[in-house]
Amino acid sequence: MKKMTKVMATVIAMAMIICGLTACGGEAKSNTIKFGTNAEFPPFEFVAANGVIGQFDGIDIAIAKQIAEDNGMTAEIENMEFDSLLIAIQNGQIDAAIAGMTIKEERKEKVDFSIPYYQATQVMIVKEDSDIQKASDMADKKICVIQGYTGEICVKEMGYPYESFKKGTEAVLELVNGKCDVVVIDAATAKKYVQDNAGLKIVEDAEAFEGEEYAIAVKKGNTELLDKINKSLEKMLSDGTIADLGIKYSVAE
Ligand code: ARG
Repeated sequence: MKKMTKVMATVIAMAMIICGLTACGGEAKSNTIKFGTNAEFPPFEFVAANGVIGQFDGIDIAIAKQIAEDNGMTAEIENMEFDSLLIAIQNGQIDAAIAGMTIKEERKEKVDFSIPYYQATQVMIVKEDSDIQKASDMADKKICVIQGYTGEICVKEMGYPYESFKKGTEAVLELVNGKCDVVVIDAATAKKYVQDNAGLKIVEDAEAFEGEEYAIAVKKGNTELLDKINKSLEKMLSDGTIADLGIKYSVAE
């Protein structure tokens, strides 16, 4: 009987050691950060033959990779519709969303945001010969926006009717084909579309469109990951990494 107890004690002790080493029973520590994005938003995220991570390239993808590296981890990218990102965070399908995502009060109710890493604003893309000069000139025009983007929220708040598309490229095609008069979208992405399509120009209205800040979203209360992300972002902001990425991806794509 005594011997039996000793054997049992040894077995339990060994099991405890093994469990301690492999974290069994507890939540296994993953060495990857699963970032969700919507790779339809150049220069922040787009699909390319030789991307920074697999087929994904852009400022955000480079930032995601660096965040993982700074923490001795690997970054994985999951591409989905922009509209699905917050739900994917909430149900644990992804750890974080990096998608040129603007901090908004209504989004803050669903997820936690990192420190901001990029200042943005909405602009209007119009045909070169358009008479639109300010946001209120859109009143009697056909407006195109992208579903779920802050551009849609802005136009809705202005009270103008609009049509929404799943992708920026679809809205821009509509504009190029003369089926709509103006596309409201984030400035850096607008610049890309104007570079890629002849006959378009950008119209700004800083009074009508307020400044926006992009940040990374994580599950509410996931301070462990948020701390890692924030530390890495702070470093990349102060050592010029993010500024350099902005230059690299806006000029040389
Ligand atoms: N900044 C805008 C927003 O937060 C648009 C972001 C779109 N991002 C993307 N990866 N498709 O709504």
